[in-house]
Order: sequence, then structure tokens, then C-alpha cells
Amino acid sequence: MDVVVVEHPLARARLSTMRDARTDSAAFRAALHELTVMLVYEATRNAPLVTERIHTPVARTDAYRLANPPLLVPVLRAGLGMADQAHKLIPDAQMGFVGLARDEETLQPTPYMVSLPESLAKRPVFVLDPMLATGGSMEYTIRLLTERGATDVTAVCALAAPEGVKHLEDSGLPVRVITASIDERLNDSGFIVPGLGDAGDRQYGTV
Ligand code: PRP
Repeated sequence: MDVVVVEHPLARARLSTMRDARTDSAAFRAALHELTVMLVYEATRNAPLVTERIHTPVARTDAYRLANPPLLVPVLRAGLGMADQAHKLIPDAQMGFVGLARDEETLQPTPYMVSLPESLAKRPVFVLDPMLATGGSMEYTIRLLTERGATDVTAVCALAAPEGVKHLEDSGLPVRVITASIDERLNDSGFIVPGLGDAGDRQYGTV
């Protein structure tokens, strides 16, 4: 499984803002927005292009656009904070939604919303979720996608735990991971250490 850790200084700075417990919700959301731009930029680095000929005001030249824009799938709630920025970078992408809540005791993901196209054959998919902790939510989401024929899935995560990365590797699912950090470990409550707390709560407050 391919794992890309985006260690650009600007990405590290945004992730540091998100980690800092003093960062309020508005500043947390702003940092996540900016980090998402960098992660999606990396996620599309090798995306195939189609070429056409255009005229500049001076001469003819080649113009490029994505041959096959990915389906963007934010995982609610926390992934909502990545959706708009990813969509701005890839305006012709379609968007699906998966709503999952992790049971705080069992850490198992429970779905409350699935809105996805019926067929995902030959369509790249970017799953947007700030955190890959145990990997249970991401595995659940990717299975929803592969059941619909997806074979090219990218997990775009602000940060990941080694346990979550291994979980996805062991699953054998067709996924690659783009993240700004692989942290030290998970604690007994399933939180990433050092992590940033709960990305949903940090953005939107505890509900
Ligand atoms: C968090 C996070 C991921 C999931 C990661 O969501 O946004 O979706 O947990 O954990 P896992 O890898 O162990 O499955 P949470 O369940 O807290 O819901 P929220 O986004 O509504 O806050």
C-alpha cells in the first residue's frame, strides 16, 4: 500500500496549529482548510490529463484538464471541513457523503448516512477524513466504495496512527494514504497520540 506523508513546511505549520490545544474552532477550521489544499494537491500529483489546443492572446498552445476527476467523499462530521476546499481545487468533481459515528466504547463505526453513486467502476475516489485512528471508519467507507466497483481509492487524512495505516494495509483494500503525519500511537481510548484531539469536536464543538 502506498503511503505518502506530506512533510512540506507549510503543511507542518498548519498541522501544528491544529494540534495546539489553544487553537479555537475558527482557527482550527482555517488550518484544516489550508492543509486540505496541500493534501489534495499531492493526491492529484500523478492524475492523468487530457490535452486540447487553445489560443493564448499571443499563440497557440496545449491546455490541460483532469481526464477523470475523482469522486470526493467526506466522512461526516469531521470530513466536512475538507470538502469545500477539495471541491475548489477540483471544481468538476462530484461529491458523495458517508456519515459515520464511532461508538466511544467499542470504537466500531456506525453508519447514519450513505449517499454514493451506484457504480464507481473506473472512477477514482478521494475519501476525506482528518483522522485515521484505528482505521475502522476508513475501512468501512472503502468497503462501501469497493462494493460499488471502486478500485482506485485515496484516503486523504490530516494525520494517521500507525495502527490505522497497518489496519488498512492488512485489509488488502485498494487504497493509498495521503497524510501530513503518521503519529506515535493510539491511546487506550482510541485517540491518536500526540494527535489533535477529536477533529469533529475541534471544528464544530461537542454535540
Ligand atoms: C472520528 C474521525 C474519523 C474516525 C477515526 O470521527 O473523524 O471519522 O473518528 O477513527 P477510526 O479510525 O478509529 O475509525 P468521530 O467518530 O469522532 O465522528 P465525528 O466526525 O462526527 O466527530
